[in-house]
Amino acid sequence: MAKLPILVLNGPNLNLLGSREPGIYGSMTLDDIDAACRDAAAQHGSTADCRQSNIEGELVGWIQETAKGFAGLVINAGAYTHTSVALRDAIAGTGTPTIEVHISNVYARESFRHHSYLSPVVQGVIVGLGVDGYRAAIDILLRRADAG
Ligand code: DQA
Repeated sequence: MAKLPILVLNGPNLNLLGSREPGIYGSMTLDDIDAACRDAAAQHGSTADCRQSNIEGELVGWIQETAKGFAGLVINAGAYTHTSVALRDAIAGTGTPTIEVHISNVYARESFRHHSYLSPVVQGVIVGLGVDGYRAAIDILLRRADAG
């Protein structure tokens, strides 16, 4: 039976990776990250459906889609992490196994980045490990899905 895919969501300004504050976010582009995610999913015989939006409501709609037909959700909500009750409620409402990822170590940065509305409703959080965080999140979600 075909394995269910993982949905990988990137939020606002993450389309600018590669040119955006490279001292913080590195030189990888979003296309590089998406390719790494697809590769990580393929290791498990699955696929990664990678999407990015700068619009909160669009992200909410995509999170709601995971209620059916997805093995899990990997989300880097960018700045919405620190502001969005709507994204938190969407994740809580779907019940989809979800891992929150941040490229940078948000705890080593400004204090407004230390609070996440999403963290209390996800299975786990990976911060500060760049693209490896996305790979690890996909690996964990698909191993858990395999284990049933
Ligand atoms: C980020 C951290 C957020 O604080 C910031 O607003 C981002 C990116 C990260 O991946 O490190 O846009 O989520």
